Amino acid sequence: MADFKIWMNGRLLPQDQAVLPVNSAAVFYATNVFEGLRAYWNATDGELYAFRLADHFARLRESMKMMRFSVPYGDDDLFEAVRAVLAGNGVQEDVHMHMVAYVLGAGMDATSPTGLYINPRQRGRLAPEGRGLACCVSSWQRTSDNAIPIRLKCGANYQNGRLALLQAKADGYDAPIFLNRDGKVAEGTGATLFMVRKGRVVTPGTASDILESITRATLIEDVCPGMLGLDVAERDIDRTELYVAEEAFFCGSGYEITPITSIDRFPLGSGEIGPVTRAISKVYMGLVRGVDTQHPEWRTPTYKAVTV
Ligand SMILES: Cc1ncc(COP(=O)(O)O)c(C=O)c1O
Repeated sequence: MADFKIWMNGRLLPQDQAVLPVNSAAVFYATNVFEGLRAYWNATDGELYAFRLADHFARLRESMKMMRFSVPYGDDDLFEAVRAVLAGNGVQEDVHMHMVAYVLGAGMDATSPTGLYINPRQRGRLAPEGRGLACCVSSWQRTSDNAIPIRLKCGANYQNGRLALLQAKADGYDAPIFLNRDGKVAEGTGATLFMVRKGRVVTPGTASDILESITRATLIEDVCPGMLGLDVAERDIDRTELYVAEEAFFCGSGYEITPITSIDRFPLGSGEIGPVTRAISKVYMGLVRGVDTQHPEWRTPTYKAVTV
């Protein structure tokens, strides 16, 4: 696996030199906000396209605002950092990046000084080729908006996901699905959930204690209705609906479209990856790489821009 250098506050550093002080809020309380995003190499175009960069920057800014960070990085700073890390590493392959803004000061109420790093890495697909995930409904509850809001993409929030993931694995499942404080379906640990029920594509609404996912928006805005002619219903989902769904999948920048083929050991549909999931995945992957040239506004060229 390529050991990419990390861009940290304007410098490219080897992995073991990109470190944070132990007394910083960033380390002790996980006072950071972050984005996980992907850039896709398009060999025909000789270009590395970052997908929906502007939306990731906007969400990072919202997270910084909610966390009262003293220095909210602007789009220009963030784009320059993305270009610098990709160019500095000479990346010409698919890459996943964590873009992290953090608080260096000590203490629970620290809001400054802030720092920024981007950690690029190779990241494969989450479900083995041709197989879907065996999921469970977690006995851990998704944290609620008035406690630890999931709309806010803060590192500390992910302890909720960690508890559920480790429990799911200990119980022999691949991944958990969270219910929210109202007992309705929320999402996965780091992905949005969609199901296909009675031929209809359904996903929980954004007030269901979920992250406002950019991939979810991509499917709702055009992939499903425009490119595939599939309506998407945004509504509450009951736990038992999952058991009788024809299909289900996770989606996210990291997860892309990851099929789920059983939930609490109930096989979904035939127990194989379903046709709707396959179709959505195919269209999504064509779009992010720019093989399908629709929606050029969603793909930011990062490679030619830095090498000319
Ligand atoms: C908790 C959570 N939900 C959903 C998602 C999917 O969001 P997106 O499509 O913006 O990557 C992610 C990934 O960032 C996540 O961490």
